[in-house]
Amino acid sequence: MTHKITAAITAVHGYVPDYILTNQELEKMVDTSDQWITERTGIKERRILKGENKGTSFMAAEAVKGLLEKSGTNPLEIDAIICATVTPDMLFPCTANLVADMVGAKNAMSFDMLAACSGFIYALETGASYIQLGRYKKVVVIGADKMSSIVNYKDRTSCILFGDGAGAVLLEPNTEGLGVIDAILKSDGSGKDLLYIKAGGSACPITEENVNSPDRYFFQDGKAVFKYAVTRMADVAEEMMKRHHLVGEDIAYLVPHQANKRIIDATAERMGIGPEKVTMNIERYGNTTGATIPLCLWDYEKKFKKGDNLILAAFGGGFTWGAVYLKWAYNS
Ligand code: COA
Repeated sequence: MTHKITAAITAVHGYVPDYILTNQELEKMVDTSDQWITERTGIKERRILKGENKGTSFMAAEAVKGLLEKSGTNPLEIDAIICATVTPDMLFPCTANLVADMVGAKNAMSFDMLAACSGFIYALETGASYIQLGRYKKVVVIGADKMSSIVNYKDRTSCILFGDGAGAVLLEPNTEGLGVIDAILKSDGSGKDLLYIKAGGSACPITEENVNSPDRYFFQDGKAVFKYAVTRMADVAEEMMKRHHLVGEDIAYLVPHQANKRIIDATAERMGIGPEKVTMNIERYGNTTGATIPLCLWDYEKKFKKGDNLILAAFGGGFTWGAVYLKWAYNS
């Protein structure tokens, strides 16, 4: 049986900084406790990128260098680099442009994707579409964020959640019916008042008045966002399963965005799958926004088998949310 061209993940790699910010260290910074953080979120520690002038591109480039080395890919063969991030090094040039230069991908077009915590699955669907069109043969999709650059370390409700990291996958054409099978991506901009950074964009530039105000930092109405996240991530994962007549037993792994263990558990329960089929690293990395899903793919790569059904699911700022159904393409 011949299949149409699909886009398969043929390699995955990640990078997390060395510095570990533990719950115990956060106890000294804000009024919180290891017990509260662990029970309410599942997070024990997160990584923080230290070093002057080091931004998201540094972590993304490290992930891509590892990816190219491990897959034996010449950087000159890369056709496109898409970087999902909410923490670009600067407003422009975009982070993907910087990464292309840092890894020597001189023939690649490159651009950033801003869909907050859903950024990686938005970028994956975009990269896969280029491959399916037959126009590109090697596309690198990155999810990378230096959340420590936008977190308000005086706000105990949000600073405990986030960490820094980067993950990257290589997409290549496949004719065995493996790779990205389907994506359902959604958005609702009316969520803008619940999860945002107010200052620093064109509507509210940084001024002398707001330079030291909380407006510069990430803000979230956690309780309200939780309610949306928990229903919408589960809804879209269930919608994907119904669309492809899949039941829990057909799924090898759920690869969810790592925002809160309770949201992940609720999604898995709705899908009818047990905890052994859920990729989870939130306890070690916290929420790394664009990087959570590729970091999970990297962590679990050795467990995945060729032909495994994976459901990737995310919810984030915007609001944006969605699910990707893919068949894993290799044994490692
Ligand atoms: N340490 C101790 N207590 C804290 C705390 C902290 N770090 N942060 C908040 N609290 C307190 C609150 O002040 C509140 O106290 P009160 O009842 O006296 O007012 C209490 O704990 C409960 O706060 P609440 O906001 O209801 O907690 P929660 O159980 O909803 O957990 C989040 C908060 C942020 C962990 C949770 O709402 C969440 O995960 N939200 C969604 C995150 C998400 O998916 N984001 C989208 C992608 S970024």
